[in-house]
Amino acid sequence: MAGDSTARYTTHEHDVLVIGAGGAGLRAAIEASAGGASVGLVCKSLLGKAHTVMAEGGVAAALANVDQRDGWQVHFADTMRGGQYVNQWRMAQLHAQEAPDRVRELEAWGAVFDRTKDGRILQRNFGGHRYPRLAHVGDRTGLEMIRTLQDHGVHRGIDVHMEVTVVRLLLDGGRVAGALAYDRERGRFRLFRAKAIVLATGGIGRAYEITSNSWEYTGDGHTLAYDAGAELIDMEYVQFHPTGMVWPPSVRGILVTEGVRGEGGVLRNSAGKRFMFDDIPDNYRPQTASDPEEGWRYTQGDKSARRPPELLTRDHVARCIMREIKAGRGSPHGGVFLDISWIKQKLGSAREHIKKKLPSMYHQFKELAGIDITAEPMEVGPTTHYVMGGVRVDSDSQMSTVPGLFAAGEVAAGLHGANRLGGNSLSDLLVFGKRAGEYAARWAKEHSAGSVAAGEVDAAITRMLAPIERAAHGGENPFAIQHDLQKEMQALVGIVRNQAEMDRMVDRLASYRQRAAKVVAPGNREYNPGWHSALDLHCLLTVSEAIARSAAARRESRGGHFREDFPDKDAKFGKLTTMVKKGPDGSMQLSHVPVPQWPAEMQKIMDENTK
Ligand code: FUM
Repeated sequence: MAGDSTARYTTHEHDVLVIGAGGAGLRAAIEASAGGASVGLVCKSLLGKAHTVMAEGGVAAALANVDQRDGWQVHFADTMRGGQYVNQWRMAQLHAQEAPDRVRELEAWGAVFDRTKDGRILQRNFGGHRYPRLAHVGDRTGLEMIRTLQDHGVHRGIDVHMEVTVVRLLLDGGRVAGALAYDRERGRFRLFRAKAIVLATGGIGRAYEITSNSWEYTGDGHTLAYDAGAELIDMEYVQFHPTGMVWPPSVRGILVTEGVRGEGGVLRNSAGKRFMFDDIPDNYRPQTASDPEEGWRYTQGDKSARRPPELLTRDHVARCIMREIKAGRGSPHGGVFLDISWIKQKLGSAREHIKKKLPSMYHQFKELAGIDITAEPMEVGPTTHYVMGGVRVDSDSQMSTVPGLFAAGEVAAGLHGANRLGGNSLSDLLVFGKRAGEYAARWAKEHSAGSVAAGEVDAAITRMLAPIERAAHGGENPFAIQHDLQKEMQALVGIVRNQAEMDRMVDRLASYRQRAAKVVAPGNREYNPGWHSALDLHCLLTVSEAIARSAAARRESRGGHFREDFPDKDAKFGKLTTMVKKGPDGSMQLSHVPVPQWPAEMQKIMDENTK
């Protein structure tokens, strides 16, 4: 690192800069370092605090430890079906093929997975996965993964920059040359010079009112890439996880893992009815059996792969829950009931079993809501959890259309298509975090450092300081703008959408931009969360616009994008990916590009494994 006390910023130099330190960022940093690159890792908050920990129920990998019929081909077919066939098929192939090795590697690095009786990694059921496929650590899988990657990464000599937010990527003749950032404690500016940059900033959940995402997830990486000229695809596909807490208000949106349903949890409405039976897709057939338990299970054509309708894909379950709530059949606090305690009928006592399988859920409800989930049902409702859309990348290398700029994990798009299967996020970040780190290190070896224009940095800093400097004259409160935006995004581009509301949101964004231009952050640069929120607004507005425009332009329903005015899929749109890009005049330009068509051997794999 080079420091210059006379400059407005300090300068750091790395071959590869990784922005974001969740699972994808850590895995990329480890691989780039293993490839011989000097690596800087920037975290918006403290190292280890990442949305990765919200993938609680497991990591999907066709290890075939619990059901030998599983294999990468079935995982590939499940991922494509879950994504409603608008996935980038090559990413889905690489992901399914490489996930088992990435999980075994994590185990070799010290991750302590739950075990089968004969000592192999245990796997559980999850929505949309044909066989029990989720390797897990109780309901703390993401946390264990972060712990393992952190431990492993720390010994590689990676430079970690904590509580630092990147606000702008710097280019040299169109290729990446660096990034401008500030530290959140003292408000000092940092210039990072790098030959390659990996974006691993996660998602956009904070654009919505109800979300499982914490404050960091304001679409930073999406916006950095977009501003640098990269393409964003699939932004209409937002995943509303069916089960978040709804009560008390202070914890609304916090995730209730799908692992609860994977372990047998059932959804009921206020009349005690298992309403998921009211809307079973055609390819699920009822089982007839004398055992009432069996009568509750549905199959995907394979009798021995039975699963309850609570484990249909997340988009479907979330919509069924909304239907019950809207019809007045919800729970007292605006959700529905999720009950795992009923398994005592099967097991005699469920208490120890539930506490062992779902320890975090047990404590979460006990501490935050005063509910004992071993004895009574939880109240749950959908929560914004994940965005399938993001930076368009090359499937093999993860490089975006901006040379030297890579993306991995949630900020990158393509693997999940219109809807992500639970557990595929953790395998995604391992597989593609590794690939991004590897290719970024290669790129850094093959290219010299670009130069950074000092004038551009100075101008950006001046813009960043504006909310503090104009505070004396009064203006808009950043928290109020953020709050209003979240409410409107939830209401107008939420789980169930229509043309009029989405168009209204697109129009409303112009007035939000006007308000943001007048935002103020009284005080100074030190410890000023108002200033941080003022700077986050640009990202929130950019991703909100990308979501609203992309959604308004897709006149069909598919996966995470459901429209009451076009409730069915349209074959024409099934061949198209929505793309947005910054135009020469600075406005957002939208187009539809063809979904890459897969080769015949991939079609055969899907045919063989989807029936
Ligand atoms: O429900 C969950 O445990 C979340 C998993 C995921 O998003 O992959």
